[in-house]
Amino acid sequence: MYKYNDFDEAFIRARTAQFRKQVERRVAGNLTEEEFRPLRLMNGLYLQLHAYMLRVAIPYGTLNAGQMRQLAYIADKWDRGYGHFTTRQNIQYNWPKLTDVPDILDALADVEMHANQTSGNTIRNVTSDHFAGAAVDEIEDPRPVAELLRQWSTDHPEFQFLGRKFKIAVGASEHDRAVLKAHDLAVRIVKNEAGEVGYEILVGGGLGRTPMIGKVLHPFLPREDLLPYVEAVLTVYNTLGRRDNKYKARIKITVHENGIDEIRSLVDEQFALIRPTFSGYDQAFLEEIRAHFPAPAYVNAPLDAFETAYENDPVFRSWADTNLAEHKNPSYAIATISIKKHGDTPGDATSEQMRVMADLAEEFAHDELRISHEQNVILPHVHKSHLPAIHARLKAVGLATANIGLVSDIIACPGMDYCALATARSIPVAQQIALRFDELKLEHEIGELKIKISGCINACGHHHVGHIGILGLDRAGVENYQITLGGDGSENAAIGERAGPGFAYDEIVPAIERLVLGYLDLRESADETFLQAYRRLGAEPFKAVLYPEAKTKNAA
Ligand code: HEM
Ligand code: SF4
Repeated sequence: MYKYNDFDEAFIRARTAQFRKQVERRVAGNLTEEEFRPLRLMNGLYLQLHAYMLRVAIPYGTLNAGQMRQLAYIADKWDRGYGHFTTRQNIQYNWPKLTDVPDILDALADVEMHANQTSGNTIRNVTSDHFAGAAVDEIEDPRPVAELLRQWSTDHPEFQFLGRKFKIAVGASEHDRAVLKAHDLAVRIVKNEAGEVGYEILVGGGLGRTPMIGKVLHPFLPREDLLPYVEAVLTVYNTLGRRDNKYKARIKITVHENGIDEIRSLVDEQFALIRPTFSGYDQAFLEEIRAHFPAPAYVNAPLDAFETAYENDPVFRSWADTNLAEHKNPSYAIATISIKKHGDTPGDATSEQMRVMADLAEEFAHDELRISHEQNVILPHVHKSHLPAIHARLKAVGLATANIGLVSDIIACPGMDYCALATARSIPVAQQIALRFDELKLEHEIGELKIKISGCINACGHHHVGHIGILGLDRAGVENYQITLGGDGSENAAIGERAGPGFAYDEIVPAIERLVLGYLDLRESADETFLQAYRRLGAEPFKAVLYPEAKTKNAA
C-alpha cells in the first residue's frame, strides 16, 4: 500500500498543528462557532445531535493492521470504544471532545492517516472497489489511480471552495462494487478492442434529494490524459455549477440542466487549454505510486485444512459459502467480515473487534484490510488453509455472521440516533429487520437481497439503490417510512421506484416481511433473486403484497 514520503508526512503534521491552534482559539472564545465551522469542516469535524463527530478517511478503503489498531486505540482513548464504518470508506467517531481532536489527528498522522477533506465543499475521500488487487474480474488494481487522484485533489487550490461536495470513485472491473454510477465523477479502467487500457469517465451521478445515475462523459480516455481531463471537469463544474441554491449545486444538476453534450464540449475546450501544462510528471508519478501496490507474496500450502473444515463443519461451510469471494489466485479467497451481526448497529465495530481483525490481517492476510461501501471489513488476500482458524477467531468476538449480501447485510445511516439532519431513526429499523429474519431462519433461502436505509432525504444510507430502499421521513412529528423497490447500485445501476404510501415506525418491519415473503411466492425458482423477480414482474405484484388492504378494497 501507499507509504508516505517526507513531503506527505510534513504536510499532514503541518495541517494538524494548524488545526490545534484553531481549536485553541475557539476554546479561548477568539473564534465564534460560525467562524470556526469552515475550519473544523476542513478537518472532518462535524457538530451532531449530541456531540462532535470526527470523520476519518480510509483512502480507497485500504488499511494495514497497524492502522486498524490505531483506530481501535483512538476509539478507546478518546471515544466510547467503537467506531462506525461508512459507505464512503471512512470511519466516524461519534463522541470526541473538541479539545481532544488535535491529539486524535496526531495519532492518525502517526500511522499515515488523516481526516482532511472528509467534509466541506471539496473533493472528498476517493473511494474504490473493496476487492481491488484481489478480484478475478479486474483489468488492473484501481488503487494507484485512486491514490493519484487523492494526492492531486488534496489541498488543490482551485477546488477547496466548490459549490458543493464532490465525490470520486475508481473501479476496474466489469462488475461494479464501488457504486460508480452514484458518484459525481467515476473513473472506470477499461480495455478497448485493441487491448489498450484507458478510462471510461462517468459524471453526474449522485443520491440525495435528487438521485441521478452517472452518464458517460468520455468512453475511452487515453491514460496520459486523466489528470488534465478530470481537472477540466472540475473547472467546468466550479464555474458553471449553481451557487444560488445548495440543493441545486451538485454536478448532477449542472449536467442535468446543461445536458451532457454541452458539458462534454465545455470540458473538451477546457481540456485543450490545460493539457499542454501537464508535462508528463503525473504519469511518472503514477508509475511511482504503482510500485507501492505490488501483488502479495503468495504462499503455497496444502488446502486440506480448508477442505476438511468445509466438509465437516456446517457453520464454517455456511460462512464460507456466504462470506467468501473468488480470488485471482485460486488457492486464495477474499474473506468479508460481516459488521452486521443480527441486532447490532450496521457498520459499528468495537475496539476489541478492530484489534482482532488487525491481528488476523497480520497473521494470515498479508497485512491488508479493506472497508467496503457496504460497511463491512475485508481480508482481501487469505490463503484458504487459514480460513478455519480465521473463522474461529472471528466467532469468538461476534464477527462470524454468515450474511454477506443477504437480507440482514443492511446499509443504514446513523439517522436520528446521532445525526442532526435526521427525520427518522434508521439504526433500530435495520436492527429489527435483521433480528426478524434471523428468527424466521429464511435468510439463506431468500438469497441476495440488498436493503438500504436512510434517516432523511439526504440518502446517506443509499436507499435509492437498495433492491429494497427505506427512507425515514417526518410526517407532522411522526416517523414515516417510504419504501422504494428495484434500486440497484451495480453496473446496471437503477434508482428504486416508490412503492406507495409510507409506513409508521411499528409497521415498517412487518411491511418488509410481507414484501420478502411475497417475493418467495413470486419467484420462478430459488435462483431468481429479488431484483430479478422485480425486473421480470414489475412493481404491481410487490405492491399487492405490501398493501393487502388496497387489494381487498379494490375487490370489494
Ligand atoms: C452523521 C452525519 C452526517 C451528515 C450531517 C451527513 C450529511 C449529508 C448530506 C447533507 C448529504 C446530501 C448531500 C447533497 O445531496 O448534496 C449527504 C449525502 C450522503 N452521505 Fe452523508 N451525512 C452524514 C453521515 C453519513 C454517513 C454515516 C454516511 C455513510 C454511512 C454518509 C454517506 C453519504 C452518502 C453516500 C451520501 C449520498 C451520496 C451523494 O452525495 O450524492 N453520510 N450526507
Ligand atoms: S441520510 Fe440524513 S439522517 Fe442519515 S446520516 Fe445522512 S443526513 Fe443524517
